Amino acid sequence: MNKKDLRKKYHQMRQAMKKDEVMMKSKIIIDRLIETTWYKQSSCIMTYIDFKNEVVTGNFIRYALNDNKRIIVPITDMSSKKLILSELKDFDNELYISSYGMLEPKKDYVREVSGEILELILVPALVYDERGYRIGYGGGYYDKLLSRQEITAITVGIAFEFQVVDRLPEDDYDKEVDYIITDERIIKP
Ligand SMILES: Nc1ncnc2c1ncn2[C@@H]1O[C@H](COP(=O)(O)OP(=O)(O)OP(=O)(O)O)[C@@H](O)[C@H]1O
Ligand SMILES: [Mg+2]
Repeated sequence: MNKKDLRKKYHQMRQAMKKDEVMMKSKIIIDRLIETTWYKQSSCIMTYIDFKNEVVTGNFIRYALNDNKRIIVPITDMSSKKLILSELKDFDNELYISSYGMLEPKKDYVREVSGEILELILVPALVYDERGYRIGYGGGYYDKLLSRQEITAITVGIAFEFQVVDRLPEDDYDKEVDYIITDERIIKP
């Protein structure tokens, strides 16, 4: 199957999940994440903020801020097709629903940071493979981010178990992640 059809298939499968299943499995994944040495040893963590039925990261963000971690979230710049990195200090008061339906920092709370400070990056995807390759929404946003020279962080794919397959098609510019955490296991490609 090509990337476009895979995108459609896994998007539909994820949309078919019930909200309580999303919440329950997300909690398992986050509980697993915060037990890892990568989490414990990182003081500055970038995470996506879930939308639609992505693995929920809101409670992770609250927990990590409370645990004295610096949290960096992406702002999608549609014109340059790049992610802007912004430090978030309060999950409950600094975000708004952007025109694309994603939660992003309000203008007054945009605090741009450089990619070199990141130690851990939580990467979303529609589907991963066992090698760490991924297919996202198709903007190449995470491929571009992970190819930046200054970024040396450990990269962790966050996904439900059904979103992991043996092998996906990949292009030269696709960037794989170092680890994947699902509700059933941690994968080290
Ligand atoms: N490092 C890069 N620099 C410039 N363009 C890139 C880079 N990496 C990927 N792209 C472009 O991004 C586009 C989309 O890539 P792809 O289909 O792999 O998206 P994706 O990985 O599903 O999306 P995303 O990373 O946003 O989740 C491609 O047309 C590709 O040319
Ligand atoms: Mg890609």
